[in-house]
Amino acid sequence: MTSKAVGIDIGGTGIKGAIVDVSTGKLLSDRIKLPTPEGGQPDDIVLTVLEVLKKLGSPDKKLPMGLCFPAVVVKGRTLSAANVSKKWIGLEAEALFEKGLNRDISFVNDADAAGYAEALYGAAEKQKGLVILTTLGTGIGTALIYKGVLVPNAELGHLQLEGVDWETKAAYSAKERENLSWEQWAERLQKYYDMLVALFHPDLFIVGGGVSKEHKDFLPLLKLDTPIVPAVLRNNAGILGAAALASGK
Ligand code: BGC
Repeated sequence: MTSKAVGIDIGGTGIKGAIVDVSTGKLLSDRIKLPTPEGGQPDDIVLTVLEVLKKLGSPDKKLPMGLCFPAVVVKGRTLSAANVSKKWIGLEAEALFEKGLNRDISFVNDADAAGYAEALYGAAEKQKGLVILTTLGTGIGTALIYKGVLVPNAELGHLQLEGVDWETKAAYSAKERENLSWEQWAERLQKYYDMLVALFHPDLFIVGGGVSKEHKDFLPLLKLDTPIVPAVLRNNAGILGAAALASGK
């Protein structure tokens, strides 16, 4: 196993990438970030990933490269598209990236990559029992990790509450869109985490996504018996997890 790998994290708002050392979980390059092209169309996203790779100095094609994406990913196909173009639904996305980038990749869901990274290098390291990572960003991503093993494609951000897909109410984008105060947003998060407790009884919640760096403003407002902690790897988690999964770590 090589310890150097490339990680690319495709999100609804930005596409980030870096070269990483998967044995330590440290970045070996600057983190490059470009905006996700308007509309999130497949070909435009492939071109933006190419740009990110160029800015990383076109890393050696022999290096393992992992890409994570905000959709259900089964056998290289994207089966959903919550915050990107609907053209992704049913697309052979892994093959599309491999052709467009002219290199082999490994392709996974973004929250799964982030959860895997937190289990390897971050807030869930050495955690026994069930850990649920939730990323609060454009959407709500979730990863289930039991005794260090990732259960892929848990789409718990789309659980229904009060008759609506709760991601549309409790993602960080909803706070911004509706100009919610921390308290108003926390009320919605409370309902969300209460539901996850009732369904899964996890041992630990990890909260990721860019807003997790402001955890002091909202995590103390939540009343939960389950411990809830901010992600340690923050915005690098997807990059690190995608790279680690690609290199078989
Ligand atoms: C998608 C998930 C993704 C999450 C975070 C949700 O809308 O359905 O697949 O992990 O957003 O990007």
